[in-house]
Amino acid sequence: MAAILLLLSLLTFTVHVLSDLPATTPRTSFYLSPNTLFSNYDKMLHSFKIFVYEPPSPFTGANVFTTTPESQFYTSLLRSPFVTDDPSQAHLFFIPFPSSLSTRNLARLVRNIRITFPFWNRTLGADHFYLSAAGVDSSSDRNVVELKKNSIQISCFPTSSGLFIPHKDITLPPIHPFQTMPSVNSTPAFLGYMKLSKQSPFSLIEEIKDDPQFKVEYAPGNRRGEFMKNSRFCLFMYGDDMTWMVEAMGAGCVPVVVTDRPIQDLPLMDVMKWSEIAVFVGSSGGAKALRGVLDGIEKSRYDEMMESGVVATQHLVWNTEPQTHDAFHMILYQLWLRRHTIRYARWAEQ
Ligand SMILES: *[C@@H]1O[C@H](CO)[C@@H](O)[C@H](O)[C@H]1NC(C)=O
Repeated sequence: MAAILLLLSLLTFTVHVLSDLPATTPRTSFYLSPNTLFSNYDKMLHSFKIFVYEPPSPFTGANVFTTTPESQFYTSLLRSPFVTDDPSQAHLFFIPFPSSLSTRNLARLVRNIRITFPFWNRTLGADHFYLSAAGVDSSSDRNVVELKKNSIQISCFPTSSGLFIPHKDITLPPIHPFQTMPSVNSTPAFLGYMKLSKQSPFSLIEEIKDDPQFKVEYAPGNRRGEFMKNSRFCLFMYGDDMTWMVEAMGAGCVPVVVTDRPIQDLPLMDVMKWSEIAVFVGSSGGAKALRGVLDGIEKSRYDEMMESGVVATQHLVWNTEPQTHDAFHMILYQLWLRRHTIRYARWAEQ
């Protein structure tokens, strides 16, 4: 009895001492759930299992996917310890098929899975996922409707509008020639640098072209490394080329995305607070409003965004050999967050 009391008082004492320690706040402000992210991630590493269906013939492992982020994800997955041959162990089921597959053949593929395996019927596809660079279009076929509405779709960022369902779907960060560049201490020469892939009708672009504080370039933009480092902000028109956004973050150039609608398909949206890393502005106020927003960002806020951007790039880069917390693993983590689906008892028993 005395021992227990002693133990109890010791415990209270310890708790007291611990709570008196100054709270250390690591720089994790841009994570949505910094307290659970890394423990959840570790759980995923140890337990996540995915069952992969055969691709429809004549496609085989090597030629199912044609875009680089898709094939990078697929090959990394097949080589990973997350794949299981035992569907009873699986949290999620992956249906690989090429983007070129016709809607009719896609419907046939899902129907075959529904008839052959007991798993589809348990959730009507909710614990299944697929890759489709551009997103699967809606269809009147029941099989495609269930795939589109229930299964998790992974597409390439940015997605064409309408084919992405927020909260359910995921986007792959673009692949880009990436290298972390040391930030320069000298004052950047430009307020903003913009690289465009094509001529756009926006008057905003015409206005900033004439402003010496901005540098506007068109593809290929061979000097962008230099301009990125020499500008406080890197400007993107949402819908134009966004592939160098991560590169800009790595170079310490804070992204500014010009968009007139809320963006719902940014990569890692349920892991990171993009508003801590990038600035989002509308186009209607023109260059004046843009300058107003950028000039209004205080130095401390700017430095925080820049540092967060540099740290966040580790989650957005693709490695030939996947590394911890990189793009491949963060996509898997987003799938792991979506693993809890209701399995209908009638089918689960079979
Ligand atoms: C799944 O349900 C459908 C009816 O919706 C049925 O035709 C099919 O045989 C079921 N699949 C399995 C494997 O039992």
